Amino acid sequence: MAKRSPEQWHTFYLHESSRYDDRRYATSYGRVFARLHHEAITQALIGVSRESRLVEVACGTGHITALLQELGYTAIACDLTAEMMEYAQARCSGSEPEPSFVRASAFRLPFRDSDIDVLISTRFLHLFSLGQQRTVLSEFQRVLRPGGRLMVDFDNRSARWLMAVPHLFYNLLRYRRFEPDTHYNAITSTTAMLREVGFEPERCDGLGGTHLLSLSWIAPELAIRFGRLHRERPLRVAAEQFLITARRK
Ligand SMILES: C[S@@+](CC[C@H](N)C(=O)[O-])C[C@H]1O[C@@H](n2cnc3c(N)ncnc32)[C@H](O)[C@@H]1O
Repeated sequence: MAKRSPEQWHTFYLHESSRYDDRRYATSYGRVFARLHHEAITQALIGVSRESRLVEVACGTGHITALLQELGYTAIACDLTAEMMEYAQARCSGSEPEPSFVRASAFRLPFRDSDIDVLISTRFLHLFSLGQQRTVLSEFQRVLRPGGRLMVDFDNRSARWLMAVPHLFYNLLRYRRFEPDTHYNAITSTTAMLREVGFEPERCDGLGGTHLLSLSWIAPELAIRFGRLHRERPLRVAAEQFLITARRK
């Protein structure tokens, strides 16, 4: 059960914008995670035309927006929090063509039905309860064309139980609370939910793993190599997140 409303998340990211990159991506593990994440997205995009109309929802400070740009795509990047998007704009400015940025809520995207070829959304849906996730995924389904491709990731429930004790201490020390205020998804029920709202899941890659934290400190390249093994079973069970690639039916 997610514990903040969509409006509260907006307020949270308004205040988080100036420290988001430092907290999520500037640590040793943050850099390892980003590499693994970028590799998985790059692979998921193989065969996707550079001419595709590609939307990134909840782009935040633009980590994936910049990757898309490097790969030759011109994304339309959306986020509800203008302050987060300002960092994305700064990150992507200078090289041509620049992505376009639109302030928009994932619950009501400013696109017509079947208007989009590819939709990517990363580190976002875990903010919401299952019911809210279903609403957002239905909105993604509405704007994607039949056959269009969805790439979306979730926090992995099985890894949470595997790391229950360290996570408890982490939440107590960092956030002064017992439980996270985000939602953990199970892979099986998430693929079922995607089918129910009109997608055909095609692959599921595990991403990172908080147990890689100490190895990321000592030997980051080794952590990346070991992290890659978490893309697939059996180590996927310990991955921090999972990325699903699906087709719009
Ligand atoms: C954890 S950050 C993820 C940022 C980025 N995708 C990444 O991978 O680093 C979550 C983002 O969701 C945005 N957000 C929160 N609620 C939203 C909503 N209803 N619609 C669109 N974006 C929203 C926040 O402003 C924030 O930038």
